[in-house]
Amino acid sequence: MRQATKNIIWSNGHQLHFNNIVGSDNCFLYDSEGRKLIDLESGVWCTCLGHNNKRINSAIVAQINSITHTGFCYCNPQIDEAAKLVLDISGIENGKCEFLSSGSEAIEFGMRAARSATAKPLALTFSDSYFGAYGDAAMKDKSNWHIYNWLDCSCENPENGCIGECDSFRSIPFEKIGIFLFEPGSSSGLVRFPSKALIAKIYDNIKQDNGIVMVNEVTTGMGRTEKWFGFQHYNFIPDIVAIGKGIGNGYPVSLVVVSQNVADRLKESAFKYSQSHQNDPLGARIVKEVIDIIHDDGLLEKCCDKGSYLIEKLLELKTESSLVKEVRGRGLMIAIELKKNAQVIYEVLLKQGVIVAKRPNSEVLRLDPALTVEKSTLDIFLKILKNLVLE
Ligand SMILES: Cc1ncc(COP(=O)(O)O)c(C=O)c1O
Repeated sequence: MRQATKNIIWSNGHQLHFNNIVGSDNCFLYDSEGRKLIDLESGVWCTCLGHNNKRINSAIVAQINSITHTGFCYCNPQIDEAAKLVLDISGIENGKCEFLSSGSEAIEFGMRAARSATAKPLALTFSDSYFGAYGDAAMKDKSNWHIYNWLDCSCENPENGCIGECDSFRSIPFEKIGIFLFEPGSSSGLVRFPSKALIAKIYDNIKQDNGIVMVNEVTTGMGRTEKWFGFQHYNFIPDIVAIGKGIGNGYPVSLVVVSQNVADRLKESAFKYSQSHQNDPLGARIVKEVIDIIHDDGLLEKCCDKGSYLIEKLLELKTESSLVKEVRGRGLMIAIELKKNAQVIYEVLLKQGVIVAKRPNSEVLRLDPALTVEKSTLDIFLKILKNLVLE
């Protein structure tokens, strides 16, 4: 079997591991030597229904045999069907959808739309949020962003961060802020959950002057946190939702939902956006299939069940190991914060054939297994991890 040549891949900013992955099945990858690896990162949050999902594969084949690409000026029934389902699960009545190609693009599209619909100069977000590889929200230019550090404030519950009752919260210049961009629970992959009290206060401040609340559901969407979307753990309906990763189960499709109110405001604005793969029927067909599978297989309930199981087992491990500092999670988005040695443990796990996520400059190992993961797979991982953190 031919091996890939790592030397010709320009992987700037990240290290490449394993150069001979040739097969997959749910949460397992296979290399050309027949070695079985456990993937608990789901290809960076993407394969929420597992690798090589047979229903997704059949949907792709059926769609390829009819039409894959039309060009953005031409619509097709797949788009309509998928958009109806997305609006339904997001709870945004009479909203509008735009199908795009990546999470970063969905955020950029949403931000451009939001900026076009408000006259105020600043957008607000949290200092530990991540919005993709490029664009307005990725750059967070100080001239048009107010960045709030919700973990470092003087509210009286420092463990859970700000609840909107401190001087640093009161110093947020809401009179200049027209947009709140919220990443509900990922925190750049560190898995932290801002309090409901804080989000409610920000929401009220933004809405007082008809501002826009946009959520980044690229990682927290599609059942990952045991609800369809991360914002559904809070008490508000957003104006704009950016969705990516899991919605394509590994195929590069993303989308943005905008409320009717925002869509109406945009009619009056100069907002325009076109790219070659906008509203492609193939991506839309996959989106429809992903949503149908999550419904049909009861995967939100299963995510809740398996997530609770995994968190419970990890909390047990924490009581036994002096190395485990904290376990945080919602559904199947789980962080294990160690006191030290996270990089070493990550590398040993890789050597033993277990893929988890590890962010540079942190002591956090992250687990984002597919919603279809078997408990027996989680048990294999728990056994391997136990040996490493009890040593
Ligand atoms: C929270 C979050 N938002 C947006 C993105 C960007 O998505 P993509 O890599 O598909 O462009 C990522 C990517 O990891 C992410 O973690």
